[in-house]
Amino acid sequence: MEGIGRPIIVLDFGAQYSKLIARRVREAKVFSLILPFDTPLAELKALNPAGIIFSGGPASVHVPGAPQPDLGVFQLETPILGICYGTQLFAHMLGGKVERAEKREYGIAHLEHNDTTGFFAGVDEHTQVWMSHGDAITQLPPNFEVIGKTENCPYAAVADASRHRYGVQFHPEVVHTPQGARIISNFVHHVCGCDSSWTMGSFVELAVKRIREQVRRGHVICGLSGGVDSSVAAVLIHRAIGKQLTCVFVNNGLLRKGEPEMVQQVFRDNFHLDLRYVDAEDRFLDGLQGIADPEEKRKTIGRLFIEVFEEEAHKIGHVDILAQGTLYPDVIESVSATGGPSATIKSHHNVGGLPERMHLKLLEPLRELFKDEVRAVGKELGLPEDIVWRHPFPGPGLGVRCIGELSKERLQTLREADAIFIQEIKRAGLYREIWQALVCLLPVRSVGVQGDERTYEEVCSLRAVTSEDAMTADWYRFPDEVLQRIANRICNEVKHINRVLYDVTSKPPGTIEWE
Ligand code: XMP
Repeated sequence: MEGIGRPIIVLDFGAQYSKLIARRVREAKVFSLILPFDTPLAELKALNPAGIIFSGGPASVHVPGAPQPDLGVFQLETPILGICYGTQLFAHMLGGKVERAEKREYGIAHLEHNDTTGFFAGVDEHTQVWMSHGDAITQLPPNFEVIGKTENCPYAAVADASRHRYGVQFHPEVVHTPQGARIISNFVHHVCGCDSSWTMGSFVELAVKRIREQVRRGHVICGLSGGVDSSVAAVLIHRAIGKQLTCVFVNNGLLRKGEPEMVQQVFRDNFHLDLRYVDAEDRFLDGLQGIADPEEKRKTIGRLFIEVFEEEAHKIGHVDILAQGTLYPDVIESVSATGGPSATIKSHHNVGGLPERMHLKLLEPLRELFKDEVRAVGKELGLPEDIVWRHPFPGPGLGVRCIGELSKERLQTLREADAIFIQEIKRAGLYREIWQALVCLLPVRSVGVQGDERTYEEVCSLRAVTSEDAMTADWYRFPDEVLQRIANRICNEVKHINRVLYDVTSKPPGTIEWE
């Protein structure tokens, strides 16, 4: 691809780790794409890949219907790297033998390599790797040689260097293979010959060009929330087309303290975006009156947002395109190991449905990026650190953190507690290691004593989690004194709260938000 080099394609055989493989390739500054394992050859060829990586997967090559790629990939000259199932698969397809391993291997193993091909260049001869497999190669296909073994796996790394085909039984993409990033980097640079052209600077240049080509003389509307994704998308589009972009910021009354002011200051005053500010607080609070059910709340907020947004679009007139900050993890057609779509846990609020309703085309300039890349693009574009490193914030905002029925007063209480929580986390220097931190106001009251007075007030629960991608999360272990300071400040400074809890539930079984 012009400017960013030829991609490495990760063929996804249902691995948990496909996204991680693609990220590791990008960390080596090479563009990568994940595609389903059965992507037709013509489609692969059209992308002109510099290399193909077969991911792992839960299947056994012997199971009827085991996932297989288009056989034509073996006729291409393109280098191939197999990982776990990916390696077994091409060993099996190229005339080797794969059997149930006598000793399964899960967890840490020690690899010894004797490689002369350059595949393990710079990797220690004895190095830790992460294994997770039941099947294993028992006979090599023709032309292959062993370049690495572990105690239980004599074919831990294999190669047919003349055809640029490599396979590893272990997982180089996970952190438990400490030199795995090096191995992936060797494959993409030395074997596939990629240069380090995937940088956020080159991405911005390319994105600006593509946005101009797509928009031409049209007019773009973008819902700006002040979150990382929509902020980066807006500023990137603005760089490409300037006044042909209008951003709409809806104050739904469910925002954090100081948020409306901050967004207007950054985007209107600093970046000079055409920003329409809509004060819809009363409209949202009226619409949400009497609603305590989480799904009903979410649907109401989503519906009202669309109504308000649509009205604004009509005021602007002549809008043809809707911009969204969609990211790569949302668009990857991952292969489900269990088959079938997963159940809806919560209806996420976004502007889904709008494009069809308003006959708008979609502009999604970040749809190839992972979250950390979006942050890097934000930095490249000069967005303030506060926005670039912001924790995720759900579309329905404080609406799903004010448990039970909402009121202006309860939202104000929650807003104040949230501001203290975040301020103290930042003061302790912990903000970046926490994926997300939030306060929920619970629908119970508790008895307390303040001064010599009995109080009967509200209870809030703090939640802070670490996570890679929000699919799973662990609760964050605060130093005691930080928690203590936060609890003290909230009880002392926030009117109506007299008790503070800390949530120690991981995800699963809990979700990150309470509703
Ligand atoms: P849960 O609560 O499902 O949340 O563990 C996972 C991540 O998604 C965020 N979240 C949302 N983001 N619109 C969004 O854009 C939404 O409606 C929404 N609901 C939850 C949540 O904050 C967490 O980061």
